[in-house]
Amino acid sequence: MTQTSSHDQALDQAVDQAIDQAVDQALDRASTGGALTTDEMKADLSLEQLRQLVGLVEYDADNDPFPVTGWDAICFVVGNATQAAHYFASAWGMELVAYSGPESGNRDHKSFVLKSGSIKFVLSGAVSPDSPLVQHHAAHGDGVVDIALEVPDVDQCIEQARRAGATVVREPETLTDEHGSVRIGAIATYGETRHSLVQRTVDGVTYAGPYLPGYVEAAPRWQKRDGQPKRLFQALDHIVGNVELGKMDEWVSFYNRVMGFVNMAEFIGDDIATDYSALMSKVVANGNHRVKFPLNEPAIAKKKSQIDEYLEFYRGPGAQHLALATGDILATVDALRANGVEFLNTPDSYYEDPELRARIGEVRVPIEELKSRGILVDRDEDGYLLQIFTKPLGDRPTVFFELIERHGSLGFGKGNFKALFEAIEREQDARGNL
Ligand SMILES: [Fe+2]
Repeated sequence: MTQTSSHDQALDQAVDQAIDQAVDQALDRASTGGALTTDEMKADLSLEQLRQLVGLVEYDADNDPFPVTGWDAICFVVGNATQAAHYFASAWGMELVAYSGPESGNRDHKSFVLKSGSIKFVLSGAVSPDSPLVQHHAAHGDGVVDIALEVPDVDQCIEQARRAGATVVREPETLTDEHGSVRIGAIATYGETRHSLVQRTVDGVTYAGPYLPGYVEAAPRWQKRDGQPKRLFQALDHIVGNVELGKMDEWVSFYNRVMGFVNMAEFIGDDIATDYSALMSKVVANGNHRVKFPLNEPAIAKKKSQIDEYLEFYRGPGAQHLALATGDILATVDALRANGVEFLNTPDSYYEDPELRARIGEVRVPIEELKSRGILVDRDEDGYLLQIFTKPLGDRPTVFFELIERHGSLGFGKGNFKALFEAIEREQDARGNL
């Protein structure tokens, strides 16, 4: 990796600003009907890059009862949002863009909005001891409370959801401030998780504020170290939901029936079982495949499955892992390790297994490069993917991240499940939960 000089950084910033301006102007002229989301354009991502990064496909939104453009934001409740925002900036290279808290008139909680590429994370922590976030955090610990999706028409989606039997937890309403208007509603999904549905163009005008009405613009407080990549990840690939034993098919059917999601792949039984731990998993995706939700349930095995451990410590179903798409997983993992992020260890035997070597064939770097970083590789009929998983992000053994670099494969690393589970079980055992 070459050293980035301060001149290059200044150039990068100037280029970013020029892109932001061009995008804003384009949005003023045109509608949002284009194939890229506002955040993707602002992040300077092309359709071709997204096809590679997250397996984007073409589809006809006109026949979709619940059209979803893409992710809007992933909202976390955390015990200390002030410090979590620092962690996501300093360790994960995210940029603070917006804020809501006592200084902006919100006396209940603080929320920090950070972005990387086209992804926004919103980190919220209670300020008032009476905040509803206190109860939520006491029950679940740090975790994802809202997987917010950008939609072109909130009212159409809420109507469809209600008709299909979903629980509407927020009726559509228009929020307005000096930057314009956003129309928002929400439906319940597994556990205490919700999908906010966010319509960012109302009456032909796209909202121009930093996040949502009520949030003020915030400038990054963290200065990127020299030599760090501009961003460590560009897009969100998928979010896995863990649900109770026997409930997976119910939630697959929910996403099919309520949101018109399609089934992508199916893994059952021995494919993803070790002697001790087993799970079943099915994957649903929205029409353009930007939004992909693998849904896991525990399966019977000799000992407690990692899904059971999650359900016990999260006190119910919830989001298990978020897969962050990167174009260079090696550079990303090196930077994250240098920043103190911990990954699951992959046994050397994984790389020495002749069956695996034969199956994966040629990848873009020598296997030794993957081995020294613990990066996993999987191949299917469409291509291959590189992936790695972090340790849990918080104190409870619940939510964690995956990094994924796709090369044609539209899979989720099925071939790695067994190797991965064995690594997870060693961790579970060390915590006394196996
Ligand atoms: Fe994953």
